[in-house]
Amino acid sequence: MQLSDRETYNLGIKEVLFTEDDIRDAVQKAGKHISSLYAGKPLLLVSILKGAFVFLADLCRAIDVPCEIDFMEAKSYFGDTKSSGSVAVTMDLKHDVSKYHVVIVEDIIDTGRTLSEIKKLLSARSPLSLRIVTLLDKPSRREVDLDADYSLFTIPDRFVIGYGLDLAEYYRSLPYIAEFDASLLDE
Ligand code: IMP
Ligand code: MG
Repeated sequence: MQLSDRETYNLGIKEVLFTEDDIRDAVQKAGKHISSLYAGKPLLLVSILKGAFVFLADLCRAIDVPCEIDFMEAKSYFGDTKSSGSVAVTMDLKHDVSKYHVVIVEDIIDTGRTLSEIKKLLSARSPLSLRIVTLLDKPSRREVDLDADYSLFTIPDRFVIGYGLDLAEYYRSLPYIAEFDASLLDE
């Protein structure tokens, strides 16, 4: 499978699940909701790289209260027991979160393990409050007790691409969210 080849790349796009219009409407709604919660409060949007960068770019423009933005990159390592894990922060925040109401902006919650560790790590730094907003949620895949405070779309157990989400670093730039055709992986 050579995804740099245009034809193969296009074959990977199996079905569009959420169009640009669907996403725009949902992001506007999420932005209004967040704006109503944080008026007059110091707000920090924390995006987990890389998958959430497109969502963050649109979401922050749908929020009409002042906010600051920071990024974090983390790699997760989980043992065989699947009950506990550890996250290595490969790029940390520049902000002191103890001065902010923090909203974690995530692309997708799958098993929940990565975000559960990041949530613990940020909570230990005593933010004024901490909420999670996720673009997509796959609740049927959950392995740890973790829920988003706000989820834009709930999806079944399918591998999705586009709007920041990747397969082997490809497809992040698609303006919509689609299911990836996993049968391509067998080739
Ligand atoms: P988990 O919740 O710790 O299992 O991991 C979530 C991370 O796995 C997300 O932040 C994505 O980077 C990646 N991921 C999970 N499901 C998908 C998918 O359907 N498409 C693309 N990336 C995914
Ligand atoms: Mg991610």
